[in-house]
Amino acid sequence: MTERKKVVLPTLFRKAREGKPITWLTCYDYPTAYLQEQAGIDMILVGDSLGMTMLGYDSTLPVTMDDMIRHTQAVRRGAPTAFLIGDMPYMSYQASTEDAVRNAGRFMAEASTDAVKLEGGEEMAERIEGIVRAGIPAIGHLGLTPQSVSSLGGFRLQGKGALQAKKIIDDAKALEKAGAFAILLELVPDRVCQVITERAENCLIMSLGSGPHAHGQLLIYHDMFGLYPKFTPKMAKVFGNAGEVILNGLKQYNTEVTDGTFPATENYFGMKDEDYEELLTLLD
Ligand code: KIV
Repeated sequence: MTERKKVVLPTLFRKAREGKPITWLTCYDYPTAYLQEQAGIDMILVGDSLGMTMLGYDSTLPVTMDDMIRHTQAVRRGAPTAFLIGDMPYMSYQASTEDAVRNAGRFMAEASTDAVKLEGGEEMAERIEGIVRAGIPAIGHLGLTPQSVSSLGGFRLQGKGALQAKKIIDDAKALEKAGAFAILLELVPDRVCQVITERAENCLIMSLGSGPHAHGQLLIYHDMFGLYPKFTPKMAKVFGNAGEVILNGLKQYNTEVTDGTFPATENYFGMKDEDYEELLTLLD
């Protein structure tokens, strides 16, 4: 395990003040959380993207609170000091502030998260306010918000024109006023991200495919390592092809079992001659 102290809100704001970019990744399971903790990643998001990356759905919409809690608990066990964020799944907060507070509370009580994230602009400010009033740190999510992908017209850049950009900038202010300590900007033009970062007073602006002018960067873990078979978005950088490494290993296993190369003597345990003789007698 790492020696580092627990990453807490003041740690993140200190980094931002010192101009040090904050690192943030998605994660959904214990072994990956363990590696991210060793790598010193500041923040971990258990995203409802797990519906696609881990459960094989075509969207994030079928993911439930129980799915999220189970995966978030596993991640916390692997990454005890990272700043851990639970992503509120579809319909866990949209219908009422009461739902939002209750489900945000589940993340904190059952999965030891440090904060929760929810999608949406000004229309979600009341939910953020309710969650923050309940003592739970909240992160907003603007731009390409996957839970509304149908009304956004697909996975595409948001805020391209001036009017749409102004709407995102206004939404960011509304979320900050409501008490969000951070806002994730997903797939908006770099200049829009820069304006929002420059105008933020007490709020960390994080970028996912929105350029470098933010307090930190987020990537989807599966996109970084070639682990999502359906597509790799343009905004992702592939840092290594783990998918290819694993596939080659699986093919080799298949061949070795088929041709008898595996298991070799070092892969199993024998039995002493006298024990075996005694066993044969017992069987007689
Ligand atoms: O669910 C998720 O991983 C997310 C990212 C797309 C930011 O919300």
